[in-house]
Amino acid sequence: MERWESIGKPEEYPENDRRKLTVHGYEIVLFHLPSGFYAVTSTCPHAGGPLEEAKVVGEHEIQCPWHRYRYDLADGHSTNQPMYKARVYPVKEENGELYVGLPG
Ligand code: FES
Repeated sequence: MERWESIGKPEEYPENDRRKLTVHGYEIVLFHLPSGFYAVTSTCPHAGGPLEEAKVVGEHEIQCPWHRYRYDLADGHSTNQPMYKARVYPVKEENGELYVGLPG
């Protein structure tokens, strides 16, 4: 189960940019990539690196700035460190509004 929380309008988030947001206590980074919107935890599961500073390295893949672990934003799995997975959250656009899906 998840609850959908509004995070504003899509046009507030320029393409090829990212923004760190705190939504009901969840620290997430919203990426607006040409392939869509993606939300991921702001904390790298390896050693806590800041994923808001991650480099985009693929269609929907990012690389942590600290030790270069890579994560696929579609499901959070690491593409170069298979033991690791970053928490991702679903994003949807409805009636001109963006929503992120949080647990509970
Ligand atoms: S903290 Fe992100 S790769 Fe190490």
